[in-house]
Amino acid sequence: MRMRTRNNLEGRLAECAALFADLEAPLPEGPLHIEVGCGKGRFINECARLFPEVNFLAVERVSNVIVLAMEKARDAGLKNLKFVRGDFAAVAPLLPDSRAERIYLNFSDPWPKKDNAKRRLTYGSFLEQYKRILKNGGEIWFKTDNRPLFDFSLETFAENGFELPDVTFDLHAERPEGNIMTEYEQRFAQMGIPICRLVATVKK
Ligand SMILES: C[S@@+](CC[C@H](N)C(=O)[O-])C[C@H]1O[C@@H](n2cnc3c(N)ncnc32)[C@H](O)[C@@H]1O
Repeated sequence: MRMRTRNNLEGRLAECAALFADLEAPLPEGPLHIEVGCGKGRFINECARLFPEVNFLAVERVSNVIVLAMEKARDAGLKNLKFVRGDFAAVAPLLPDSRAERIYLNFSDPWPKKDNAKRRLTYGSFLEQYKRILKNGGEIWFKTDNRPLFDFSLETFAENGFELPDVTFDLHAERPEGNIMTEYEQRFAQMGIPICRLVATVKK
């Protein structure tokens, strides 16, 4: 299904142009947390508001939704949140080695057909990129409502040498403290669907 382009999309993106990250320039000093597939940006905007000492980078390939995330950041006057529009497969090579402390994957598209497994953001080739970008001891925080994707991901993280110190199959019941909800998560929570979350760590 084709999504309708939002009214004045390019004009609205241009008004937020200062929020696009310049990946040719050095990233700002200090901790770096990246969200891959930020959607409409509720999560990453809230992170940036709560943790002003951290630099946040949000990657999203769909212009129609990144524009909403960027407008939230502009309206809130956030200085520690930048955006990259593009597919992470193309963006990842532009990010430096061993630089980020944390990567967030929230409600990533499940790509249920086996033929499409390589597109899942927890497929081995993506995990290799995250490993390169993360510092020693860096973390990936992955949340999903999709149990088959979660089970697949538990295997791929383990196969690719990540440790899994924190795994829950019902985040809201077991570890609600400090959890920041995404747009998708709010919707699933209202429907009573349990949310799975894993934290994966990398040793270099
Ligand atoms: C199901 S939505 C979830 C959005 C948001 N994280 C949330 O939880 O509300 C997945 C988002 O990830 C984006 N996405 C999926 N694969 C991507 C990729 N390879 N690179 C960048 N964005 C991607 C999609 O465009 C979509 O906006």
